[in-house]
Amino acid sequence: MEKTFLMIKPDGVQRNLVGEIIGRVEKKGLKIIGLKFLQISDKLADKHYEEHIEKEFYSELKSFITSSPVVAMVLEGDNVVEVIHKMAGATNPKNSAYGTIRGDYAINFTKNVIHTSDSLESANREIKNFFKTEEIVNYVQSSQIWNG
Ligand code: PPS
Repeated sequence: MEKTFLMIKPDGVQRNLVGEIIGRVEKKGLKIIGLKFLQISDKLADKHYEEHIEKEFYSELKSFITSSPVVAMVLEGDNVVEVIHKMAGATNPKNSAYGTIRGDYAINFTKNVIHTSDSLESANREIKNFFKTEEIVNYVQSSQIWNG
């Protein structure tokens, strides 16, 4: 089973979209195995966005991501990296399709409601940045029988 990382960004929390986004994850049949509410430190921001540190938009991205709490999640399921990345929609708000989370709620490159891992490799790295091993809970989800 694959694992991936999903974060509801500060704008998603401030706009009261936490329940909406967790609802979409649950309705899709994805399994939440880690969940926390936290304020991202400067150090964690640099670690999480290490590939963007040199980019011109990074200072704006860093001050936004550390400005207010986020919700961090670990999800598990078949092809979950691709499934949740598609549900998120394109980063560029001009390209995010209606029906995706960003297509429905985001109009800005930076304030785009959620972050999702773009590969299995990124997922493993991002999960480790946010969660200790003991904070990830393995359990049997009864609905797995019905969700397939
Ligand atoms: S890119 O263009 O391939 O680097 O884009 P991507 O890997 O999808 O993620 C870029 C993350 O940086 C945030 N961000 C911006 N991206 C592009 N342009 C501008 N101006 C910009 N400002 C902020 C964007 O929201 C992506 O954040 P995450 O959390 O990864 O979705």
